[in-house]
Amino acid sequence: MKPLHLRSAGTSLVISFDSGEAEVIHWGTDLGSTLPDLAILKAAIPPSSADATVPAGLLPQASSSWRGRPALRGHRIADGVPGYDFSVRLRVAEVASDGAGAVVIIQADADAGIRVSSALTLHDGGLLELCHTVTNTGTTPYQLDELATVLPVAPAAVELLDLTGRWCRERHPQRRPIQQGTWVRTGRHGRTGHDSSLLFAAGTAGFGNRHGKVWATHLAWSGNHEQFADSIGDGRTMIGGSELLGPAEVILQPGASYTTPALFAAYSGRGLDGISEAFYSWFRNRPHHVLPAAATGLPAGKPRPVVLNTWEAVYFDHNIDTLIELAESASDLGVERFVLDDGWFRGRRDDHAGLGDWYVDETLWPNGLTPLIDAVTSRGMEFGLWVEPEMVNLDSDIVRAHPDWIVGPSVQSYKDGGRLPIEWRNQQVIDLVNPDAWQYIFDRVDALLRENNISYLKWDQNRDQLEHGHAGRSSVHEQTLAAYRLFDELKKAHPGVEIESCSSGGARVDLGILERTDRIWASDCNDALERQTIQRWTGLVVPPELVGGHVGPTTSHTTARTHDLSFRAITALFGHFGMEWDVRGVQGAEREELKRFIALYKEHRGLIHSGRMVRSDVPGDSLMLHGVVAPSDASQATVSPGSTAALFALVRTRTAPSEQPGRISIPGLEPDREYRVEPIFPAPGDADYSHTFAQVKPPAWMADGAIAGGHILAEVGLPMPVLNPEHALLLKITAL
Ligand code: GLA
Repeated sequence: MKPLHLRSAGTSLVISFDSGEAEVIHWGTDLGSTLPDLAILKAAIPPSSADATVPAGLLPQASSSWRGRPALRGHRIADGVPGYDFSVRLRVAEVASDGAGAVVIIQADADAGIRVSSALTLHDGGLLELCHTVTNTGTTPYQLDELATVLPVAPAAVELLDLTGRWCRERHPQRRPIQQGTWVRTGRHGRTGHDSSLLFAAGTAGFGNRHGKVWATHLAWSGNHEQFADSIGDGRTMIGGSELLGPAEVILQPGASYTTPALFAAYSGRGLDGISEAFYSWFRNRPHHVLPAAATGLPAGKPRPVVLNTWEAVYFDHNIDTLIELAESASDLGVERFVLDDGWFRGRRDDHAGLGDWYVDETLWPNGLTPLIDAVTSRGMEFGLWVEPEMVNLDSDIVRAHPDWIVGPSVQSYKDGGRLPIEWRNQQVIDLVNPDAWQYIFDRVDALLRENNISYLKWDQNRDQLEHGHAGRSSVHEQTLAAYRLFDELKKAHPGVEIESCSSGGARVDLGILERTDRIWASDCNDALERQTIQRWTGLVVPPELVGGHVGPTTSHTTARTHDLSFRAITALFGHFGMEWDVRGVQGAEREELKRFIALYKEHRGLIHSGRMVRSDVPGDSLMLHGVVAPSDASQATVSPGSTAALFALVRTRTAPSEQPGRISIPGLEPDREYRVEPIFPAPGDADYSHTFAQVKPPAWMADGAIAGGHILAEVGLPMPVLNPEHALLLKITAL
């Protein structure tokens, strides 16, 4: 059988079938239209090893002498005795290609009664999508313990980068050398998790934002999972991931199948920015993406509205008059979407009660939500509502009526002596695997959406669940699918309603949830300094139009740090911009500055939400420069003379050892084009203008702007001003 060669956007994937199984013999740089001699790409036989070349299979298996982590782990239960067919010998049975980047490869072991169908798509922007479906073709049940999706990385990859975090500090990077052994990042949270590695990347020594070769993967799953790099003694390394299944959670009856979460993978020969480009391109080409891909320069689709979320403004203190005043004040500022957060439903005066009782609280809202919704919509704003459909408080009517609808380890309900998991924020998870519980939740959210003029749901999920059980058996797999079904069915019933995925801030950020939602809440931390890191690394995979970023109160509620408005606003700008602040108290010059900034976001959101994300490799750890560059593809022709070609933020996070930063590279522009670079925010006269600069005389170019070619800006850079720590400067780049 001829090898399969998929090519897209600088990436090639070559699969050979010579060994009888599907083997990825190359994933990396584009090999051109004619494949080289395949012998170049194949492994040799090392001393003291199997007497045949060992393929790095698409499904690595012990029957081919692969000594690393196998893709498939499981066994057959025959006459009640487990352990049979523990090792399979998968052989290619069928290969079907659509000629446009999508391939299905079927491999089977008829003796073991196992068939695996692998669906691979190399998307236009170079992003590879891979998932496997295993089917039990035998006559007895097969217990599946793991089915992993993996890809080989080139020997040149010597470093690993993955992300970790906690509440209010999501997605921070960590690095280590690749050494023999397995580096595993495990998520047992019953949700994606604050510490989940959004990206798992291997690369050449010191790979950075815009240099080095990088092979990176993402596992699109919102339940328990593992991501790993498996480096074996013969020098080969696989990276990938799998769903972490609970004990006997998936037992395939004859004829039954299991499909893995999709693994998304990108290769870049020019650092992490190339990885982001592959992901952004994939997101933006989805037909249901919030901004249609055709809408590059100025989106033809709906621009991302300026949001006001009530959480840090009023918390649980829901008072209709206050909220209407807040809506009026928001509208005056230019807000376009008003989101009522937690506290509006029955019994919800604080976080001890009410979850599950999804009825508008009659004591707080005698006339329902309509008076507030009218106040919001009559001012031209959309109305959004917070919900947390997967959770219950024990102190709720729904739990009193159905004590058995709670996820947990016991067969019996807790009222009948069953054990409940430890509470977390006073709450438990509702058992969506129970069809009655699922239907109740669907019906309540559906009714809220039908009875009220709601355009947006902030869909929260505020706890880990380590003991996910339905009727006494492990159920996180089924629960995750049931939650997905809830999103899918509600979306189908209310196609116009946008949904935000929130999970104690950013604990459910993955491409599984993003397939059914329209933005993520990156973190409960609105402190701009923390957000710089959180958003930077979230933005590695998720484009800014899908990442909520809000201007919080002057003194952060989660860190007690105080920041100028300009730093908070410039930080929120590179996302889906909003506010989470009692803006009634923002008056005078500060209000005017905020208004100007909101207008600036509206002017530039088309660019920010369609352009390329560019992160300069600035030496040291005290300064960052990142920006969004307008697409330069001739067919998109958005950068006409005089139009904004890019916005960059220069961000000082801390003091630096040297007196001034010197020249900093502004990369990513067209090398042969002339540009004007000018500082635009904060502006002279703004209160925070004088706070921003630590020097009396900033570099001379700042007065009238610098004129330079894209090549010079990237290769030579511009001398940057000395900013005070925890301040930022917004630079606008105009094409000449
Ligand atoms: C979570 C969310 C917050 C807010 C609260 C409400 O913590 O992340 O943004 O909605 O719940 O209880």
